[in-house]
Amino acid sequence: MKWLSLLPLAGLAHAGLRFGCSTVSLQRLDPLVEPGQIPSAHVHQIVGGNAFNASMEGDIGEKGTCTTCAYTEDFSNYWTATMYFRHENGSYKRVPQYPNAQLGTEGQDAPDINAGMTIYYTQKDFYDNGEDYITAFQPGFRMTVGSPTIDTLEQAQAQPGLRYTCLQTILTRGYETPDFPKEPCPAGIMAIYHFPACWDGKNLDSPDHQSHMYSTTKGAFQEAGPCPASHPVRVPQLAYETMWNTAVFKDMWPKDGSQPFVWSYNDDKGYGTHADYVFGWQGDSLQRAMNSSCFFHACGSPGVQGILKTQTVEEMNKCSVQNTVEEDTEGWLMELPGQKMAMRFTA
Ligand SMILES: *[C@@H]1O[C@H](CO)[C@@H](O)[C@H](O)[C@H]1NC(C)=O
Ligand SMILES: *[C@@H]1O[C@H](CO)[C@@H](O)[C@H](O)[C@H]1NC(C)=O
Ligand SMILES: *[C@@H]1O[C@H](CO)[C@@H](O)[C@H](O)[C@H]1NC(C)=O
Repeated sequence: MKWLSLLPLAGLAHAGLRFGCSTVSLQRLDPLVEPGQIPSAHVHQIVGGNAFNASMEGDIGEKGTCTTCAYTEDFSNYWTATMYFRHENGSYKRVPQYPNAQLGTEGQDAPDINAGMTIYYTQKDFYDNGEDYITAFQPGFRMTVGSPTIDTLEQAQAQPGLRYTCLQTILTRGYETPDFPKEPCPAGIMAIYHFPACWDGKNLDSPDHQSHMYSTTKGAFQEAGPCPASHPVRVPQLAYETMWNTAVFKDMWPKDGSQPFVWSYNDDKGYGTHADYVFGWQGDSLQRAMNSSCFFHACGSPGVQGILKTQTVEEMNKCSVQNTVEEDTEGWLMELPGQKMAMRFTA
């Protein structure tokens, strides 16, 4: 009589969220992989709630007082490494980020989202909500995807959720590569992270921050495969997109033709791309959204309420976290912060 249990789901359509968050912090902290360590090994760019700190734990949805995300009940933290440009003379400069298209407030004088990321909680694919029941993450839930220790093309190819797009325009999609684009990209580089969406149903975290989850993602917002018996609970398909304005360095491309971009953990191939997530939606807000049938803008967009409460871009941009690590991450640097290494070039 298995079909009986499927009946209540017939005809349901659940939500898909796509929204912008501005930068809340940019510093060397990693409360997930290196809790309590000040500073952490490499620089991160972080978006989301202001409860972010080196040793945060528990239900951060109840601890934050503001968030840089469009949805005011989302105090989660989302972070990745930062990208640097390496000049031929051996100096580094951080690559600025810019916000994705169609996320901000409409209108000529409306301010832009300050850098940050595009966040997705989808169910099926880029175009459709799907009809599966999606279980929201629980307070205290955290996970990572990818690893800075990955250093071969084969390993990078084996993770279809972690890719780069060389942007011809802000709207270029497809053409994904597992490594940094080798040519200059006219509108910058988009880094893409699709997290695993199958949960073991028990553990909020695991020692490697990954084994409580299982990935059946095929990447590129294609519909994922079914969850295995070991990780039977379907959670939202979380994805990040970060837009790096590498084009500002187009006049400084190395004469030998080599690609000059490097992640803050000193990876110039891009194989070790990785991202971190700490859940922090207040109360049952994420489950409420997942149970609804809204899709992208219809769930609410900056200043326009939908099923979720929203704030304006001005309000998003006002929220920030004070740096606890005092060091220069901007300007021309002699080395990547925290990455002591032999100089590759002699000036
Ligand atoms: C960091 O956040 C935790 C709660 O997640 C809090 O208990 C702790 O006091 C905070 N630490 C600092 C240094 O603010
Ligand atoms: C490298 O070049 C940049 C851009 O011209 C310059 O600002 C920086 O000071 C140079 N670094 C060194 C070590 O010469
Ligand atoms: C979501 O839907 C499930 C199944 O219908 C229901 O049990 C749950 O109470 C709903 N949660 C919210 C927050 O709407």
